[in-house]
Amino acid sequence: MRKIIAVLPGDGIGPEVVNQGIKVMAKINQRFDHEFELKTGSIGANSINECGIPLKEEVIEMCEQADAILLGAIGDPKFDNDPSCKIRPEQGLLQLRKALSLHTNIRPITTYRATKHASPLKNSILKDVDFVIYRELTGGLYFGEKHLSDDGEIASDSCSYTKTEITRIAHNAFQMAQTRKRKLTLVDKANVLETSRLWRTVIREMSSSYPEITVDYLYVDNAAMQLMLNPAQFDVILTENLFGDILSDLASVITGSIGMLPSASIGISTALFEPVHGSYPQAAGKDIANPMGTILSIAMLYDYFGLTEEANTIREAISWAINSGIHTPDIHSTKYSWCSRVGDLISFYVEDPSSVHKSTCIKESEVLI
Ligand code: IPM
Ligand code: MG
Repeated sequence: MRKIIAVLPGDGIGPEVVNQGIKVMAKINQRFDHEFELKTGSIGANSINECGIPLKEEVIEMCEQADAILLGAIGDPKFDNDPSCKIRPEQGLLQLRKALSLHTNIRPITTYRATKHASPLKNSILKDVDFVIYRELTGGLYFGEKHLSDDGEIASDSCSYTKTEITRIAHNAFQMAQTRKRKLTLVDKANVLETSRLWRTVIREMSSSYPEITVDYLYVDNAAMQLMLNPAQFDVILTENLFGDILSDLASVITGSIGMLPSASIGISTALFEPVHGSYPQAAGKDIANPMGTILSIAMLYDYFGLTEEANTIREAISWAINSGIHTPDIHSTKYSWCSRVGDLISFYVEDPSSVHKSTCIKESEVLI
């Protein structure tokens, strides 16, 4: 298969984790005989530093023309600490999501036996957890009108949703539930917000077209509590933009590290794949970032192209690595491997599992203490 992939490494640890992802992608393509042409562009703080804006028109065009986009991370503390700043790295990502209409953001939450110790939650709570968050990505508070009064005393962000926006992601979420445990949970705040009541109305109407799916409704405050108390009850969580942002970071506590979480954002003509973690500036350049969220995002990219065997090979490699003690310090703070080493070993595995099976567990020299 021939494809064009736009690669936007972004800020902080973005370039490091994307490099590991590309290594794995190259080996998969070699093994399964695919050819991906990679085109690189700037986004976020590095784009601001280069040309004064977080996303150039030509980068948007490059992404529009690509079959898929691989993104690292966006953000730089230099902008976070200045609330008066008008140009921000995150605007580049939001602009890209909107321009490509990447409305359905998919964030799977999986647990691994070998990472259970990394979660502060009890083992009994982590048992049988396997769910996916469907987060609406191009509406709500993120994109509503923003206002700050001239005297700086009053600020507002408005939240709106249309039936069309709700329906398109909801169809995707219902269809995902059909392939899983057939349960869909709408998370909202319908006891307070008008937009949430519209979400409930739409989902109730649509549920009659999906009679085999059990639909339940949870207020977001309760959903946050349930995620920590009994995450195994969830299958597909469907929610609006801001709630999905918050709940997916919360859900990473279950996996043990946000560095493990992948995501896919599906639009109309192309799709974007990025780890859920941010730019983690404290770790940038130190070769300690967890590349697994990015590598798992690449597995989702192969799924998107219908290349299931390739995607499963990557997921198998991640499980192998994790279960063999090959991971970065976010998983174990005293016994770990470098980000680039984790990327190397996973790429060796996807090339030929038998080449690494024999030397499975990390050798003393690879363990950094
Ligand atoms: C995410 C991030 C982004 C978001 C930021 C970087 C704008 O937190 O993808 O979860 O809030 O959507
Ligand atoms: Mg977030």
